[in-house]
Amino acid sequence: MRKRYLSTIAMVGAAAFALTACSSGSDDGSDDASSGDDSGSSGDVITVGFAQTGSESGWRSANTESMQTAFSEENGFDLVFNAADNDPAAQISAVRNFINQGVDAIVLAPIVEDGWDDVLAEAADAGIPVVLEDRTVSASDDLYESWVGLDFYTEGLKAGEWAAEQFGDTPTKMVVLEGTTGSAPANDRADGFNDAIAGTAIETIDSQTGDFTRDGGKSVMEGYIANYGIDGIDLLYAHNDDMGLGAIEAIEAAGGVPGEDITIITIDAVRDGMQALVDGKINYIVECNPLLGDLVSQVVKDVLAGNAVEKEIYVEDLTFTQEEAAEVIDSRLY
Ligand code: AHR
Repeated sequence: MRKRYLSTIAMVGAAAFALTACSSGSDDGSDDASSGDDSGSSGDVITVGFAQTGSESGWRSANTESMQTAFSEENGFDLVFNAADNDPAAQISAVRNFINQGVDAIVLAPIVEDGWDDVLAEAADAGIPVVLEDRTVSASDDLYESWVGLDFYTEGLKAGEWAAEQFGDTPTKMVVLEGTTGSAPANDRADGFNDAIAGTAIETIDSQTGDFTRDGGKSVMEGYIANYGIDGIDLLYAHNDDMGLGAIEAIEAAGGVPGEDITIITIDAVRDGMQALVDGKINYIVECNPLLGDLVSQVVKDVLAGNAVEKEIYVEDLTFTQEEAAEVIDSRLY
């Protein structure tokens, strides 16, 4: 698979280009796909329907803000925004509404990988280009123009490599907080991590979904503690910061010391996660950069202008130890 990685610097460059290339003038937009807005193409304004997953995490809030800023009126867009509250059926309905409204383009952050074939084919039949952001789908890539996002498998691999370095041959009991079942990041982060720890003495004693939410992470961790005790768990791998932060609450409520009694690895590097890393409550974080808006908006403009676009555009992620987090936390953008 060919990967085109873009660094933050390249993303800023793309943003600058997008700003100079933008057209101006727009109505006041809509924040709800079901608002009944007849948002077709109007002059220079590009009407884009954006089907977001929901608002499950700090990462998602930062991603939504990045997208809304990039797809602004000043940049020549009329953004029709829908957040599906992590409900795959509701998200498919939202995309169908965008098709019926006759938007110029659809941007989709798919909650789960499967189930997209029919509605993506309907968008293609209607001549509406679709650009995926963040997560991927299992449907044929003929059904969308481009995907912009992160390499979730490599994120899991980096997290697992750090765990393997720390624990090596030491027998280690690990619990996992999985992301939303059926989502690309939950699938790929599990695969990457498992590949990295293969052959080590790390044993997965339990693995359940916390749905990428803080509450979900907390309640699943409470169950783990009830079943195994703080002393029966050496390592926690959480597929995102928010679930790790919920787990920290559960560990502290049970009288444990997160980051000491239980080593904690998470993915995202959002503000609260990085603060917990600096505070010693998380031990290692692999970044997942949510600031995709400028890049995605440029891809949409290119597609509508008939310019060639890459099928897959990967944005590179960093990793942080506690010491590294302390050095950069004040300069982080989210
Ligand atoms: O798809 C990216 C993931 O979705 C983020 O890691 C998580 O926080 C979010 O909910």
